[in-house]
Formats: sequence, C-alpha cells, structure tokens
Amino acid sequence: MIDVHPAWLPASAFRSVGSRRVRVTGDGPVVATVRDEVRTAVADHGGALVEDGPADLALVCAPDDGETDPEAFVVGREGTTTVVRAVDGVGLLYGFHHVVRQGESAFTGDGEARRHAPRQPIRMLDHWDNVDEHPVMGQVERGYAGGSIFYADGGVREDLSRVRSYARLLGSIGVNRVCLNNVNVHRTEARLLTDLLPDVVRLAEVFRPHGIRVHLSVSFAAPITLGGLPTADPLDPAVRDWWAHVTADVYAAIPDFGGYVVKADSEGQPGPFAYGRDHADGANTLARALAPFGGTVFWRAFVYNHRQDWRDRSTDRARAAHDHFAPLDGSFDANVVLQVKNGPLDFQVREPVSPVIAAMPRTRLAVEFQVTQEYTGQQKHVCHLVPQWREVLAFRPWGEDGHTVADVAAGRAGTPAGGVVAVSNVGDDPFWTGHPLAQANLFGFGRLAWDDRLAPEAVLDEWIGLTFADDSVRDALHGLMDGSWRTYERYTAPLGVGFMVRPGDHYGPDVDGYEYSPWGTYHFADRDGVGVDRTRATGTGYTGQYPVPWRDRYESVETCPDELLLFFHHVPYDHVLHSGETVIQHIYDTHFAGRDEVARMADTWAGLADRVPADVFGRVTELLAEQLRCATEWRDQVNTYFRRKSGVPDKHGRTIY
Ligand code: GCU
Repeated sequence: MIDVHPAWLPASAFRSVGSRRVRVTGDGPVVATVRDEVRTAVADHGGALVEDGPADLALVCAPDDGETDPEAFVVGREGTTTVVRAVDGVGLLYGFHHVVRQGESAFTGDGEARRHAPRQPIRMLDHWDNVDEHPVMGQVERGYAGGSIFYADGGVREDLSRVRSYARLLGSIGVNRVCLNNVNVHRTEARLLTDLLPDVVRLAEVFRPHGIRVHLSVSFAAPITLGGLPTADPLDPAVRDWWAHVTADVYAAIPDFGGYVVKADSEGQPGPFAYGRDHADGANTLARALAPFGGTVFWRAFVYNHRQDWRDRSTDRARAAHDHFAPLDGSFDANVVLQVKNGPLDFQVREPVSPVIAAMPRTRLAVEFQVTQEYTGQQKHVCHLVPQWREVLAFRPWGEDGHTVADVAAGRAGTPAGGVVAVSNVGDDPFWTGHPLAQANLFGFGRLAWDDRLAPEAVLDEWIGLTFADDSVRDALHGLMDGSWRTYERYTAPLGVGFMVRPGDHYGPDVDGYEYSPWGTYHFADRDGVGVDRTRATGTGYTGQYPVPWRDRYESVETCPDELLLFFHHVPYDHVLHSGETVIQHIYDTHFAGRDEVARMADTWAGLADRVPADVFGRVTELLAEQLRCATEWRDQVNTYFRRKSGVPDKHGRTIY
C-alpha cells in the first residue's frame, strides 16, 4: 500500500501527551480507542501508559458523574495532574483530542476545570460516493481526490484500513455521523439497503469505536426498484410496510444505525410529487419506519426545476426551496431533519444565507455545507472555506439582536435541533483531499460544527500546528491560506452573481456557459448592466422570503451589501458601490488583484521548500501553478467579457483583450 498522509494526526502532534505519564480509566469500545491512541503516543515520545500511581494526564470515563451529555467533557488540573472527565467514551475521546490540540499548555495552564460540550448535536459528513464508477461523474460525484475510500470492485472494500484512519481523523474533530453513499442513488448503491447490507455492517463497525453512526442515502423509488411493488406512493400501506420491514432489517444488523438521507424530486431523483403527495408525506413515511429504532431521516430541501426555459423570466431558482418547504412547517415528524444548503442556489463562492433557515420554526433544520470544492476550485485551488462557513453560521436572519443560523441549527432559537452537515472532500488520494491544504477545510468544518464561535484564524493555526512539525511555517502558511476564499471570489464571478463556470464539470471560467441553459442560473449581462433582479418591487420577489430587516436591506440597492449586489439587483455598469468604485471598475480591479494574489501565494509557498515534507511541497507547488494558470484565465475572460459588453475601458489602462 502507498503511504497515506497522516493529515492533522502525525506522530509529532502527540508530542506533549506522548512524553508524559498517562492513565486511562473506563471501559467500552471508544475508551479502548483512547487507550490505543495513548499507547501509540507514549511509544513514539517516550512517556508511559500507567495503570496506577502518579500521572501527568488522567483520562477518566466515569458514567455516574452526573453529566447528561455523553459528548461533553471537563478538563482541569488536580494537583500536578491534568484530568479529563467524561461520562461516556465518546466524551473522553473528544477530551483527549482537546488536550492533544492544546499541546504543552494543557499541562501548564491555569488549571481551572472547564466543561466543553458540542454546540451542535449532529455533526455529519455526507459522502457522494458511488459503489460503481459513474460514466460521467466517476466514482465520487464532485470528488476531487480520487476514488472512494469505501468501495471497490462492486462492493465495500476488503481492506478497510483507509476507512479506519478516516474514522480516526473524524473522531478527533468530533464528527459523529457519516452518510456512506451519494444522494443520487444509482442501481448498485440502492442495494446497500438490502443484499449489500452485510458490507455496510463492516463499515459501521469501523466507525463505531470513534463515536460515529452511519447513514445511507436511499432512493424514494426503492419500494419499486428493490421491493417489486407497483408504486412508491408514501401513503400506500404496502409501501409503508416495505419501508418498515427493510428498516427493521437494517437495525437488526446495525443497532446504532443513524438513519436515511433523501434527495427526492430533485435533479431527476424520484419523489412524492409523482403521486400527488408533498414532501412531508414523503419524509414522514420514512421517519415512521425509523422511529421505533431511534433513527432520523435527513430530507434535503434542494428541490427546484432543473428544466427551466431560460426565456421564462418569472421563475427564480433561488426561490424554490422556500416556496416548496416553508408552507410545510409543522407537518414533519419529530425524527425528520430538513437539510438545507447554506445558500439558495448551489454552494457558490458567495450567496446570501438560505431564507428557508428562518422560515420553519417548527421544523428541525440542518445546514448543509460543501467541503468538497465543486464551485470553489475543485481542490486544485487553495480556497480555505472556514471563514465562509463561520460567516453563515454567525448570520442573524432576524437582525442584530436575533438568533444566529447556528442557533437555529442547534435548537437554541426556540426551534427543535437539527445540526450541521457537509459534503466530504476525501478520496483514496494519498493526501486524502487531492490538494494537501484542503485538509484544513475538513478539519475546520469539524471544529466549527463543534463550536460555531471559534475564530477561523485560530482554527487554521490549530490545523497548521498539528499538521506541520516545523512551527516556523505557521505565519507564511497562515498568510497564504487565511484570505484564499476572498481571493477566489475576486478572480471568479463578481459581486454574488455566481456561476460563470464551465457547464457540467464546473471548473474554470465560461461566462455565458449557463446563460441559455435550463438550470436557472443566469447573470443577465447586457450592454447596460448585469445582475439578477430579485426584488419585490420589480423582480422575482425573492427578497420577500426573508424576515425583517433583511427583506428590506436586500430590497434596496442603497442597503444591499456590495458582495451580494448582483445576486439581488440588476444594475448599470456605472452604478457606484459602497466602496466608492463603479461596478465595472470593481470587476476589473478585483480580477487583476485576485490573480496577482495567487502569484504571491505561489511565491510564499516556494519559500517553504525546506520546511515542509518534500511530497507535500511538490504536490502543492504543482497545484499552485495550475491555480495561477486558471486564475489568469478567469481574470482575462471575465474582464474581456465585460469590457466588450459595456464598452467601458479600465481606468488604469491595464491589458484587457
Ligand atoms: C449540485 C451538484 C450535483 C449534486 C447536487 C446535490 O447540483 O452539481 O452533483 O448532486 O448539487 O446537492 O444534490
């Protein structure tokens, strides 16, 4: 087997813990994981795993401690011993990794006992992995890091050592659920629910010792395609029975199975609409099959018309999820979580927060992010997305004094708790994520899912500190990565207008690629101006899906934030932004600047040659060259396009073609 990169858990990350005397108290499979971690760490760094006697670090799993959250832990100093206490193995695992991240300061700090608990109950990664290779999408849909770590040769892999390492990485950042297959459920993958189930059992066994429950994506048409029934009508008693029986079989095999993920009536997937039923009917049928076993159905809100006529100016894809789902608030069962993409379109570099999040107070909502970089450079570009997710989680749909998006997801806004979900970015690439620096996005997702208040800059430094043994790389790497999301935004589609990517694979520029397509993602540039009028006054009325104050702030060009201007408004090229610049000059300036920032990123990286491992250095060097090529292409195509459309020259006279 080729060597797999240790990501943020190389031996060096365990230096402080591993050089000490450590005691682990407690039983169970997850406590055993902690004990194994300690055993390896002390072997690498000269410490000892002790049964009794004095210890520098005591990791204590004591079920009777009175703590009610199994995922919580308390860490503090008792005399000269740093003590982590939890009532469950999983809390102990999280406490152990907390101490690992703290490094020396865990043994020298003020020592006051502090309780830590996750701010979100569900912290989930969805894999868009297929068992079989898909003719267009490959094995992992929108995967940029090779094939699936789960599947090969038509089934679950024989050798699950990669999955074991992955489960360990996820457990260390507090991810507690994984969905094992693509939301687009094809023929073979549908059978994971039935005859391929024994293979799923093997995967569940690998994840369990790391505190992670597994889910399956299921096809709404499974009663027909797998069960041989004439219908998948969710209100048909035979259909309900079928789901009940199949689900009972799954739980007989995997007692801690998490539940289902469903993409229904979306981009060609089957769903309840075919039977004249709504999405609550559909979701509740699956929910009732899962309820006796404590399972949950994650029902995706990504429902829109993907066969739109571009001539039809009255249909607005951004409106679709709210139009479909908001009227159903209150009709979903308690074990349904509505899984809502962070923005109304599709994981663009810049979108407003989805209005669905503020519109369904009686529904459990989970916010879905995309760690895999479909529209953000496909793990060929450095695009550190943690600041974007932090911004979304901290957004206050009801204004400054209201709750945040994270509050809604966590159940702190008077609404029932859902959680946070993200599409994973890993594959069987030796670096896990194709671009080695994209590991930071996976790490950062887990950390923010645990605590949405963490500063993205601090999370980045944590990741750098763990991943790279040489501390001296920190400032340079931080400088290179921290602003890279905004850099990507500068050289791609401007001011929130979105897309302009090559249709199909979504990599690289094609300004009009989607302009006359059925997908509903248009920028409407003409000789006078650009942008989508989504106002109530003259446009699609989308702004009306937000509560006060945003419905009014977005409605007016005076108060709409610059970075979203073209998402909400069609404006002339000489419209002056709050920044004081015209829209057309802003487009030119940001595209020149963004591309030049990439050139500087490449220079910064070149300076790290002897301080990072040679294989990482080589891979990142290669990819930065590709990023610079692609950013140059973006700059020149976008600038040229708007120069020709508008006839307005760049006031600085730079080269536009
Ligand atoms: C995007 C992506 C698809 C994916 C879909 C989804 O449209 O391009 O590959 O299936 O999102 O989230 O369901």
